[in-house]
Amino acid sequence: MPPADRYAVFGHPIGHTRSPCIHALFAEQTGERLNYTAQDVTPDAFETSVREFFANGGKGLNCTVPLKELAWKIADLRSEDAERSKAINTLALCQDGTIYGDNTDGIGLIRDLKINLGRTLESRRVLLLGAGGASRGIIGPLLEQGPSRVMIANRTPEKAVRLAEEFCGLGPITGCGLSDLGAEAFDLVLNATSASLTGELPKLPGNILRTGACCYDLAYGVEPTPFVRWGQEMGADISVDGIGMLVEQAAEAFFIWRGIRPDTAPVIDLLNRERR
Ligand code: ATR
Repeated sequence: MPPADRYAVFGHPIGHTRSPCIHALFAEQTGERLNYTAQDVTPDAFETSVREFFANGGKGLNCTVPLKELAWKIADLRSEDAERSKAINTLALCQDGTIYGDNTDGIGLIRDLKINLGRTLESRRVLLLGAGGASRGIIGPLLEQGPSRVMIANRTPEKAVRLAEEFCGLGPITGCGLSDLGAEAFDLVLNATSASLTGELPKLPGNILRTGACCYDLAYGVEPTPFVRWGQEMGADISVDGIGMLVEQAAEAFFIWRGIRPDTAPVIDLLNRERR
């Protein structure tokens, strides 16, 4: 039997990643033979490591913080989502030796919201907290869902305004500072800041949730994040972290690589059971 096809996730740091476990479960479920590992790769070593990985028979890579922008530069060919977000989380080696790049974070988020959580985005008011790479990766797919409005709010207001201007051709989007919030309430509040990674909560007023609102933290952890707790305390209909998005973006990467879409529900269930 030939050796299993090789895949990996590159990041720095990489210790916390659940991706090898998720892809092992997808492989078992679909009967695909693959070997998926995690490698700590610094930004300086990134390009050499990618080229070596593919030269040595690797078939596909996921790239996570802080390598997504570098992955965008390396790709010879990019999906529309990747092109406009200027960040790539999935690389695939094509048969002619070129490298294809996609960003599956946005579709992962949308699938989790719509399919797993049953939320509609059409005509909804969306507040996106943060104006860094995590926000950039999801704005295009969010606007494609037809929300009545997307407001980006950031600690540094200018960054939110600039990001909104970059995407305003795709739909109704504006930017402001976190301290400008309070005059309007939203159906969906997405936390795409990196605050949860350091156990912090962005400074938020209490009156920004409409009845039946959903709070969603793109970060995830063993314990509820400060933002998930905030949503619960403020009476959100649901307040969840990004474990579902993590599994959905992985499923989309798996589809790009193997042409098969795994069933995500049992994998999300398993990860949720593990942290109970
Ligand atoms: P990522 O790629 O994870 O988005 P990033 O590009 O460094 O990381 O962006 C981090 C985002 O989280 C920024 O929007 C940052 O706000 P600033 O632009 O004002 O720095 C936001 N952020 C980080 N910690 C925060 C905190 N404690 N409260 C509010 N916003 C925070």
